[in-house]
Amino acid sequence: MHRRKTASALVSIALAWPLLATAQAAPFKIGLILPMTGPFASTGRQIEAAVNLYMAQNGTNVAGRRIEVLLKDDQGQPEQTKRIAQELVVGDKVSVLAGFGITPSALAAGAIATQSKTPAVVMAAATSAIVATSPYFVRTSYTLPQTSRTMAEWAGKNKMKKFVTLVSDYGPGIDAEKSFKERVLLDGGQLVGEIRVPVRSPDFSPFLQRVRDLQPDAVFVFIPSGPAATFMKQFSERGLDKSGIKLIGDGGVTDDDLLDSMGDEAVGIVTAFHYSTAHESPVNKKFVEAFNTANKGMRPNFMAVGGYDGMRVIYKALEATKGNGGGEDLVAAMKGQTFESPRGPVFIDAQTRDIVQDIYIRRVERRNGKLWNVEFDAVKGVKDPGKAN
Ligand code: PHB
Repeated sequence: MHRRKTASALVSIALAWPLLATAQAAPFKIGLILPMTGPFASTGRQIEAAVNLYMAQNGTNVAGRRIEVLLKDDQGQPEQTKRIAQELVVGDKVSVLAGFGITPSALAAGAIATQSKTPAVVMAAATSAIVATSPYFVRTSYTLPQTSRTMAEWAGKNKMKKFVTLVSDYGPGIDAEKSFKERVLLDGGQLVGEIRVPVRSPDFSPFLQRVRDLQPDAVFVFIPSGPAATFMKQFSERGLDKSGIKLIGDGGVTDDDLLDSMGDEAVGIVTAFHYSTAHESPVNKKFVEAFNTANKGMRPNFMAVGGYDGMRVIYKALEATKGNGGGEDLVAAMKGQTFESPRGPVFIDAQTRDIVQDIYIRRVERRNGKLWNVEFDAVKGVKDPGKAN
């Protein structure tokens, strides 16, 4: 009897032990959904590199949980994003979703985040309305109204009066057009053309011809990272850089990922943005050097910073919840985080779950043989102005 009791006690310990062991070491899974192929692949490449760098610098053990990142390619196709998000939540039991290279992908994942109470960290997409569509969205990228309104204010102060807008015909482009327009009209400016171009595989030539015909002082541009490279190529091929029409815009047009390959046609372009690789701060210097070293000299762009800061927000939330991290508690611990990002000081507005940050005015300059977005002015602590609309 005694022997049997001992034996059964041993058996139950033996059975329980692996359970205990797995419970303690249960990984904390992050489902990272990015466009790794297709027209937005540069966004995926940048964010993947930044997530890897963050983990290399900060370890993969947070509050007793081993961090495991499950990277999935949605090709920038929202139907894929939705299917993958579903699989990650139901099949892989991820605790957090993250990534979202473009607005339609973020929007497609929102319902899944809400139903499953899974925090979804938007590292790239930038349409104002995204975060309000699920209480589980938290954003570490930026919004188009933040950059576009700041650009319009600067243009008004710098003797530009007559404008044309040229934007990609979807969420962030519509946001950019609206915010820019509202502000220039308020400042007594004139809008002589509003041009919308297709998001995928656009041929910009006919649209650029229209800009030329309208003869504005400046054309304000938003094209997403990736297709923006084609835009810049056609802009100079069509000689618009020499037409006297100034190119201004959201900083995606002089994307740090590609800027140095654009050539001298890009020199002098003024944009408003939240991040430049050339941002002068010790935190950014360290970030850029580490990123370069880990990625064969590749420059981090704004997408990389959105990914890097997104990981920071997730790590700190997991620490704050002492590794327990249910969806609601994690979101609560993401709200209000304040820190110094490579882009400068940022905070996650507890009310909107959106990022508040400085927006810089930058001019492309050649320094030490390379092209950089050199920041020369800043508007501090910009909240998303799109929220009021
Ligand atoms: C977006 O789809 O929200 C988006 C994508 C690329 C950008 C900016 C915004 O550069």
